[in-house]
Amino acid sequence: MTRYARQWALVSYLLLAAKALAAPAPERQIALQPASITHSSSHRPLHGRFLHITDLHPDEIYKPHSSTEENIACHREHGPAGVYGAETSDCDSPLSLVNATLAWVKENLRDEIDFVIWTGDSARHDSDEENPRHDKDILAMNRHVANAFIDTFSDEHNDLVIPIVPTFGNNDIYPHNILLPGPNNILKSYSKIWGEFIPEEQRHAFEFGGWFYIETIPNKLAVFSLNTMYFFDRNAGVDDCLHPSEPGYKQFEWLRIQLQSLRERGMKAMLMGHVPPARTEGKQLWDETCWQKYTLWLQQYRDIIVGGLYGHMNIDHFLLQDTKEIDFALLDYINENESPISEPREEDFSIQSSADYLKDLRDDWAKLPDPKDLKAEKSKGRKKKKNKLGSPYAERYQLTLIAPSVVPNYFPSLRVVEYNTTGLEHASTWAEAKKISKQQQNPHELAPEIGELKRSHVADFEIEKKKKKKEKKPQDPNLHIPKPPKKGSPPGPAYYPQTLTLTGYTQYFANLTFINNDITGSSLDNSLSLSGWNSGKHRDKTPKNKEPQPREFNYQLEYSTFDDKLYKLDDLTVKSFVELAHRIGQASSEVQSDSRAMNDDDGLEDIGYLDLNDVDDSSSDSNIETSKKKKKKNEKKKKKGRKGKNTKLWLHFLKHAFVSTRTEKELEDV
Ligand SMILES: *[C@@H]1O[C@H](CO)[C@@H](O)[C@H](O)[C@H]1NC(C)=O
Ligand SMILES: *[C@@H]1O[C@H](CO)[C@@H](O)[C@H](O)[C@H]1NC(C)=O
Ligand SMILES: *[C@@H]1O[C@H](CO)[C@@H](O)[C@H](O)[C@H]1NC(C)=O
Repeated sequence: MTRYARQWALVSYLLLAAKALAAPAPERQIALQPASITHSSSHRPLHGRFLHITDLHPDEIYKPHSSTEENIACHREHGPAGVYGAETSDCDSPLSLVNATLAWVKENLRDEIDFVIWTGDSARHDSDEENPRHDKDILAMNRHVANAFIDTFSDEHNDLVIPIVPTFGNNDIYPHNILLPGPNNILKSYSKIWGEFIPEEQRHAFEFGGWFYIETIPNKLAVFSLNTMYFFDRNAGVDDCLHPSEPGYKQFEWLRIQLQSLRERGMKAMLMGHVPPARTEGKQLWDETCWQKYTLWLQQYRDIIVGGLYGHMNIDHFLLQDTKEIDFALLDYINENESPISEPREEDFSIQSSADYLKDLRDDWAKLPDPKDLKAEKSKGRKKKKNKLGSPYAERYQLTLIAPSVVPNYFPSLRVVEYNTTGLEHASTWAEAKKISKQQQNPHELAPEIGELKRSHVADFEIEKKKKKKEKKPQDPNLHIPKPPKKGSPPGPAYYPQTLTLTGYTQYFANLTFINNDITGSSLDNSLSLSGWNSGKHRDKTPKNKEPQPREFNYQLEYSTFDDKLYKLDDLTVKSFVELAHRIGQASSEVQSDSRAMNDDDGLEDIGYLDLNDVDDSSSDSNIETSKKKKKKNEKKKKKGRKGKNTKLWLHFLKHAFVSTRTEKELEDV
């Protein structure tokens, strides 16, 4: 256990103990009175749904009918910028869009969801030299949006009734992308701005690292808000996740301890953050050592992790992390005697066009095994091939879901995710727990829930002590490999349908072309293959009305995984996505012949997922040859892809990636 983690645990323990023992504050006694409503009358059953909203990018100086051109960014001059935003351009959101979005959410979603995952970037970009950003404005806008969220999800008594899990994005800090290790003023400010969201006992720790978790379903499900700024390759204020002095290292230690504690409590976890762990040939967003640890952590806690949800990219898509890419040599810097050399990467997302990025993903997916083949093989009694998926539940892989943005780089978009609530019919909700804990500030009425909470923090200590004794020392004494699931535990909620498994999502969009009601005639578009500033598909149009005459603002259904005829997703388990990704990959020219894929499997066997399971018992110097070398070998043996029927699914995926802003014709040209 690191000194930092020990301090953290001590601080939270002391805070809790102090809270339980302290004399009740006068204002809290007053708060006792209105909370006398009986349990049953206030019970709000779970709906099995949550909202994922991301990248609002409100711009206080956005001007309707201004120009979408580079360095003007919808701030002045005359052009096609609509009242609710300039769809398909790189302009930020007018406040009217943020306002109308939250109003729509309040009217249509608020009473149907259990919690909100809000993955950051709530300030404008720095895209206009005449109007540079200032840290005061960024924080003021974040405060404004946080308050708007509180209004949206509060009841008629102004009590927040739906838990909101926020995180900051690379544009919520100043200068953008740079966040120094905490404590610092930025983290201090956000601990205030999100005072209603961050649990009181974690606020102090938040000022050190900017990470925290909320039990969105008390004693059942915790959502972890990860501070991805400390993983982000472009954050020049930090180095890696390897050295104990780095905040990225500390974050993984914190996460390990928390996940272990949740495992002991029989709980599950969702992970969320702003910058996703994207890692393709042309684009790597996280420092490699952070990616390595993340993938290892998710592998070791696969029995409790429900999924990972991220934003930042604006594109609707998903990622699959392959645990066979875990390379202990990269995590063992003592052994290596030097920091791993990470290859220089693309500077900015806009340098590689989004279309090229998606093609890279598709080419990676072309190499995935087909889960259907494996089923057939298995029934024929050929056990060996099973290993390609790591297990019958595809535990070799991990799923990252990336939701498209509200800022209309395409169309503004919202995602409602559904999960299995079987067995949670009587679970108490976050709002109920909040009410109870308010009532129980009085130590004489210490409730079992509070007692439980206290014990669980004590348990943290014990787990850590035990672990220290049992664990075989890794070569790098600072690398604490998390414990794998107990032998014989069933597959986790990301892998096998069960309580809290994500069952599907529904995607909504606002057709700004229709709502803004400014543009007539079709706009031909080649912007998907461009990189750099995007002025949008209406860049050469002028609005038809002198004064904006928008139609009523509405989000509408774009698609749902529950009935999408081409995706055919039974649920959002990893295996379902491996199968979908495999099928999308068939449109790639890098599809390999079956026999080649089989040989590939044999070659990878030694770094299979089972090895990780045994990491405690075996000498952990699994000197892993990175599969990248093998990838290269395979590339020589590429075969021409089966175009045609698979192109249809690829175009369908692209249509969703760009939130239905592009016609099939435009997508074919990509
Ligand atoms: C925000 O939206 C509400 C509801 O649509 C509307 O009544 C209000 O005027 C809007 N406020 C601003 C500042 O746009
Ligand atoms: C939901 O979870 C229950 C209990 O774990 C399980 O029996 C059921 O099959 C799951 N439902 C779906 C639709 O996956
Ligand atoms: C959005 O609205 C425009 C203008 O009415 C229409 O041409 C276009 O087809 C709509 N797009 C979608 C995806 O519905």
